[in-house]
Amino acid sequence: MQKELRITFEEFHDIAELKEEWQVLLRTARTISGKAWSPYSGFCVGAAVRLADGTVITGNNQENAAYPSGLCAERTALFYANANFPELAVETIAISAQNKKGLVSEPVKPCGSCRQVMLETETRFNQPITIVLDGKNSIYVLKGIDTLLPLNFKPESLKG
Ligand code: THU
Repeated sequence: MQKELRITFEEFHDIAELKEEWQVLLRTARTISGKAWSPYSGFCVGAAVRLADGTVITGNNQENAAYPSGLCAERTALFYANANFPELAVETIAISAQNKKGLVSEPVKPCGSCRQVMLETETRFNQPITIVLDGKNSIYVLKGIDTLLPLNFKPESLKG
């Protein structure tokens, strides 16, 4: 039997089309991307996480001469949020990336490891995370990590 999985998401063409709260979060992600430590790739990523009480946590990618020791922007922000505010659900994460030419053209897509960490965060707080992905040509807004990581491995998978 063949099965099909579908994802739906919203596409915008300008930050001004987003609701105010997402605009603010995305601008914050853009700003923090400019402070990334990414001398090896030249790819600067920023993540801004909004928590249930409105607190905003930011992070950017932190590279290392020993390459695997570095960490993506999303996990830098999420781990800080979960470490310092373990009682607060993550509502939204906005992600922006720039290279030498400026903001990337197409919406930046989080890597597999960051998707897995977003899933853990969602499961921990039992609440879908809204994901805002920035790009020059378009901005995507997705509801829940299932959209980016279907058929996933989650805590209940351990029970078999
Ligand atoms: N990177 C992120 O920070 N987030 C992503 O979603 C994709 C990739 C970083 C890791 C590395 O520092 C650089 O971008 C190039 O892969």
